[in-house]
Amino acid sequence: MSVTEKFVSMEWGAAPEDPREVVAWLEAHSRKFGHFIGGEWRQAAEGKYFESADPSTGDVLASVAQGSSADIDAAVKAARGAFSGWQKIGGRARARYLYALARLVQKHSRRLAVLETMDNGKPIRESRDLDIPLVSRHFYYHAGWAQILESEFPGYIACGVVGQIIPWNFPLLMLAWKIAPALAAGNTVVLKPAEFTPLTALAFAELCVEAELPAGVVNIVTGDGTTGEALVMHEDVDKIAFTGSTEVGRAIRKATATSHKRLSLELGGKSPFVIFEDADLDSAVEGLVDGIWLNQGQVCCAGSRLLVQESVSEALLEKVRRRMSTLRVGAPLDKAIDVGAIVARVQLERIDRLVKQGVAEGATCWQPPNFALPSRGLYFPPTLLSNVQPASAVAQQEIFGPVLAAMTFRTPHEAVELANNTTYGLAASVWSESVNVALQVAAQVKAGVVWVNSTNLFDAACGFGGYRESGYGREGGREGMLEYLEPAWFAKAPALKLEKSGGANGDGERVEKAKKSDGSNGTLSIDRTVKLYIGGKQARPDSGYSFEVRGSDGKLLGEAPLGNRKDIRNAVEAARKAADGWAKATAHNRAQILYYIAENFSQRSEEIAGRLARVVGAKQARREVSSCVERVFSYAAWADKFDGLVHNPPMRNISIAMNEAIGTAGVLCPADAPILGFVSTVMPLVAMGNTVVAIPSERYPLVIGDLYQVFETSDLPGGVINMVSGRPTELLRVLAEHADLDALWSFGDETQSVMAKSLSIGNLKQVFTNEGRAIDWFDAAQSEGKWWLRHAVQVKNVWVPYGE
Ligand code: NAI
Repeated sequence: MSVTEKFVSMEWGAAPEDPREVVAWLEAHSRKFGHFIGGEWRQAAEGKYFESADPSTGDVLASVAQGSSADIDAAVKAARGAFSGWQKIGGRARARYLYALARLVQKHSRRLAVLETMDNGKPIRESRDLDIPLVSRHFYYHAGWAQILESEFPGYIACGVVGQIIPWNFPLLMLAWKIAPALAAGNTVVLKPAEFTPLTALAFAELCVEAELPAGVVNIVTGDGTTGEALVMHEDVDKIAFTGSTEVGRAIRKATATSHKRLSLELGGKSPFVIFEDADLDSAVEGLVDGIWLNQGQVCCAGSRLLVQESVSEALLEKVRRRMSTLRVGAPLDKAIDVGAIVARVQLERIDRLVKQGVAEGATCWQPPNFALPSRGLYFPPTLLSNVQPASAVAQQEIFGPVLAAMTFRTPHEAVELANNTTYGLAASVWSESVNVALQVAAQVKAGVVWVNSTNLFDAACGFGGYRESGYGREGGREGMLEYLEPAWFAKAPALKLEKSGGANGDGERVEKAKKSDGSNGTLSIDRTVKLYIGGKQARPDSGYSFEVRGSDGKLLGEAPLGNRKDIRNAVEAARKAADGWAKATAHNRAQILYYIAENFSQRSEEIAGRLARVVGAKQARREVSSCVERVFSYAAWADKFDGLVHNPPMRNISIAMNEAIGTAGVLCPADAPILGFVSTVMPLVAMGNTVVAIPSERYPLVIGDLYQVFETSDLPGGVINMVSGRPTELLRVLAEHADLDALWSFGDETQSVMAKSLSIGNLKQVFTNEGRAIDWFDAAQSEGKWWLRHAVQVKNVWVPYGE
């Protein structure tokens, strides 16, 4: 059937894009592709191939190699082999290659756009005007970072060999988002495209050859999830960057936990599209068309949940229905088409199933009447579900199709509550003519990107990525570059060796001697008994047990409470309660409180050092305490200086990149410097507006007693820092599995690092660990400053229209 025959309506003329150049290209490859490894094409090691089809016709476009472990191994070896050469030529030479790739994408843009549309089913207008221009923009932008890398990221080195796994919804664009920053930073890559849409990645491999990119710098291995898994599991991969479903993201987090692989995850979303009564409703409707029907709604940041103020709800929905009736669904190569084909049958069935479930759960389904879909190919009509209950499946699950779920709200407060009533946090769109309302909501929505009076805007300079179960890490911007770099000292840091006696941060023998505390401790001749510190108050442990703390000479120093699951839950609750107020406190206020803490710490330093000396010796105790004072002063200084940025993307917008607190964090404090380690890990979080539940080292839990007095005299609001002593590994497990904790920092040994990563997958909290390596807590170049602050925040990009 010809493209013209596939038209739904004959009222308007067909304007099909010419596919001949793509067909010629496919034929030139005999419609069969191997992997691109070490700069050349290789057949599938196990001889298996699969077919990639055009979803708008079902026609097979080409057969493509199914990557096995052997193929992945060959590709990783090629990438490893190319790594040192790619390093040696330096950022400026790498920039030349990236510029060349950008230019080549432009040169071949028409062919790439047509190929993308044929392989994916998206309208040619989108691939031509959005996907491909953004691809070249990404290479240009990152060529710039490569050029100035050494001066802009001093002390940082590339991660090494990076494994990248991408989805099918923006195949070449996701490739660019992954490959451009990785190469600019000096990494070499093995990329696995999605099985439904491998063809533009293979066309890109040819551009690498044309750009004379050194062999092995970019390797493309095609295949399905098992190929992806082999890449994730490969021992010689230093970092995995993944975009795709939250479910697979979780599996990858777990699979990489036992290695030192860095990980960034760009996962699903259920993004709110919030319309206030004072919004320009016609513009908002046009925004919605873009928000949910772009790429048939197969967009991770699609505005799939419409939240509209009740007073304008009916009027708006009527406009939406009218506009939906004018959407043109059909052959994606037609330039006049708005909605193309769904990528694969399994996806079409998933959309259909979820819509039926929505209706069964009470939603009203509306689709344009008399709407004929093309007789061939995979299509789903634009669909509006209204009267949707916030808890229903269609309001909570990612449908990834052209389906809008509408709900209403009355007040801005309710709008924010509904917007945040999801486990995701990728994007949001807010429509109001009042800049105050729009920015107020933007500030409160938990999402990595917020578009004010606009939607689905992207640029290489503006970081993109999620909060919560939408993943972690950013793509684009300076923050995106940092995902592919790491401090040179950290990469080379030796494994942490903790003394076995005198208390490692493991669960030592001493804990087994835990005894029922009579609360009076009168029978023991000990110096000090501390309590837990929760919500600004001292608290007895739920267990009623305490454990003995001994000095390096084995003499009893005091008793510390044996905290348990219940105590951690109470502490998280207290920290959660304090989170809003502390995050909203001005940075100036937070700085003042930290200065105050530093001063009070300084005043008590002799007494604190005296006690600590019995565990770590007098010399280290003095050094620790004086460094602590300096460290708190430093974070007081940083509290109002770790600002965001304002980007000027090439649209009539500014994008305000704000460093926001992550929320509530659990911290397993290091044992090698019991007080300095505590301060070095807890203070950057607190300075940036997070609240904390800290587990002091088992070696010296009496730090609770030293610190709570300092905090209480320093106006630190109750609940901002909570301290629970006990068996670190046991408490770490509770923190990792806690569903209401946003981040977890673990600075213990290797086992604890692995635990933190693997047990935190429930709500995909952000995990930051020392990877079981030793950190010199006395060296501020290692243990203080921006690296820490960066882990204590997440960047939110708020796009605001600007100018005409
Ligand atoms: P998926 O997450 O299974 O696939 C994404 C990529 O990961 C593909 O390249 C796939 O081959 C690979 N992969 C699959 N299993 C893997 C594993 N165990 N280890 C390593 N790599 C693996 O997504 P799928 O099945 O294509 O789509 C299912 C749903 O996921 C969609 O309906 C949508 O809700 C969501 N999704 C979200 C995307 C986003 O951009 N956030 C993109 C694609 C899908």
